[in-house]
Amino acid sequence: MNKPSRIYCKACNRKILLLVILLISFSNAYNKDNPEDVLDPETQKCLDCHAGMRYTLTDPVTGDMASLKMYDELRIDPHLYVRAAHGGFACTDCHSLDYEIHPHPISVKFEFQYSCLDCHGGDEHFARFNFEKVEEEFNVSIHGNHYIENFSCWSCHNPHTYRLTVREGGRIVDIVAYNNSICLECHGDISHYAVLIERQLTNMLSKHEWLPNQSLHFRKVRCIDCHAAVHYDILVAHHVLPASEAVRNCVECHSTNSILMASLYKHKTVERRSRFGFFNSEITTDAYIIGANRNYYFNLASIVILGLVLLGIAIHATLRYIHYRQRK
Ligand code: HEC
Ligand code: HEC
Ligand code: HEC
Ligand code: HEC
Ligand code: HEC
Ligand code: HEC
Ligand code: HEC
Repeated sequence: MNKPSRIYCKACNRKILLLVILLISFSNAYNKDNPEDVLDPETQKCLDCHAGMRYTLTDPVTGDMASLKMYDELRIDPHLYVRAAHGGFACTDCHSLDYEIHPHPISVKFEFQYSCLDCHGGDEHFARFNFEKVEEEFNVSIHGNHYIENFSCWSCHNPHTYRLTVREGGRIVDIVAYNNSICLECHGDISHYAVLIERQLTNMLSKHEWLPNQSLHFRKVRCIDCHAAVHYDILVAHHVLPASEAVRNCVECHSTNSILMASLYKHKTVERRSRFGFFNSEITTDAYIIGANRNYYFNLASIVILGLVLLGIAIHATLRYIHYRQRK
């Protein structure tokens, strides 16, 4: 038999290839992710110093120039900045205009700091986030009980990098990684912890040694899934409890009414539950959690298989009976 002839000739193939290359290089030239294309000039000016490892300072009197080190804490990654929830802001929307002076004058050290609720409180547009409830929950949490001075919403919500993940509904492992990195920023880094409280930072790994396959658990569940009390009206739990009240019991997750359905998978279960009238479907698409998965389709399939087996037995028995009668 003849081989099927080519659908495209070689010349056409080459043209298509050329077109693809052109399209790719065009899309690279106009890259929306390139921060310099997005940021306004004033913000870019701040980042000329605050994004790099070094910056140049000019003495206004003598005109002398010096290349100095920009401290890690004061550095902002422009790529993370433009993707952040407030990445559309100019620096001076939140910071004092006095920052436009270099070196910064002493007055900036006393600048007023906005709280989330200053902007988001009572705003229709952000009602779905329920900021008021979040604040109530934070205030009674271990971090917000005003025992630690200087702990505010900004301590977790880095003003220059914080973005929505769980509500955006990406992959669970990405959501978990982002969320846990926020907690580990302090609980895994003494320099961030020690500016808030004079205390030995405990080792996270040894404190969670009782958990089998710890690295898998830390990749598949958030710290808050064990450490925070869920509240029905908010998507992300903010009531972090004392460690003694954390979830330790395996069955709380590894069971049909897994607590994860009200926390980590909450954003997905709400719509699924109403559509299919069953509960644990979402876990099955992301993970198989021992004990937690009772899937509608699995259940249906097992009933069908059971039915077929019974039917098979019945047919077999009938045939044997008929055969037996005929022999007699
Ligand atoms: C010439 C380089 C340069 C430019 C431009 C610059 N900064 Fe700074 N900034 C610094 C240096 C150096 C520090 C640390 C020393 C200090 O606090 O003055 C700093 C500190 C800061 C701090 C931290 C102050 C503190 O005490 O915590 C903030 C906030 C800040 N800058 C905001 C801005 C903003 C907003 C802009 C743009 C309007 C800006 N900076 C432009 C060099 C610069
Ligand atoms: C949404 C408001 C907001 C915007 C926009 C913003 N900042 Fe900030 N920035 C803050 C707050 C609040 C803090 C204090 C954070 C804290 O207390 O943990 C801060 C802290 C800083 C610090 C000190 C960091 C530290 O750890 O001490 C620097 C430097 C800084 N900002 C520079 C900038 C620059 C440059 C821009 C623009 C590219 C910018 N900020 C945009 C709110 C903002
Ligand atoms: C200076 C006012 C201001 C402050 C302070 C502020 N926000 Fe915002 N925030 C805004 C505005 C305005 C937007 C809308 C930005 C946009 O759509 O580009 C926004 C957007 C957001 C979004 C994204 C909403 C969406 O639909 O994508 C979240 C989440 C958010 N803010 C949380 C916070 C949190 C948490 C804090 C405190 C840690 C805070 N904001 C502090 C003004 C503020
Ligand atoms: C202990 C750390 C921590 C503190 C403190 C904190 N948050 Fe959060 N917050 C988070 C994390 C983690 C997320 C989840 C980010 C994600 O996955 O989208 C979040 C999410 C949010 C969201 C978005 C939830 C949604 O519905 O999508 C809002 C709004 C919010 N926080 C407001 C606040 C306010 C207001 C405060 C202070 C009263 C505060 N947070 C204090 C860690 C914290
Ligand atoms: C800005 C730093 C910082 C961040 C970010 C942070 N914590 Fe903490 N956390 C602390 C400090 C400081 C304490 C000590 C408070 C105390 O013992 O009163 C603490 C205490 C705790 C405790 C209580 C420990 C005990 O001995 O009872 C738990 C649990 C906890 N944090 C969990 C979390 C989780 C979960 C997150 C992320 C959602 C988080 N933390 C984010 C600084 C932080
Ligand atoms: C599977 C549930 C679970 C997960 C996930 C989990 N923890 Fe814990 N955590 C606990 C329990 C239970 C304890 C109490 C252990 C003890 O007292 O020996 C604890 C203890 C702690 C303590 C107190 C340590 C001390 O000084 O005594 C901190 C802080 C903490 N966890 C933070 C975190 C952070 C940050 C994460 C995320 C990276 C996390 N935990 C993930 C259950 C969990
Ligand atoms: C906060 C919820 C939670 C708690 C508490 C919890 N687990 Fe898990 N566990 C999970 C999740 C999520 C997975 C990941 C499933 C997957 O995607 O593979 C998992 C996976 C596992 C696995 C499979 C590991 C593998 O190699 O595949 C074992 C075994 C396990 N857990 C045992 C336990 C035991 C024993 C405890 C109590 C000491 C416990 N878990 C507590 C949520 C939890």
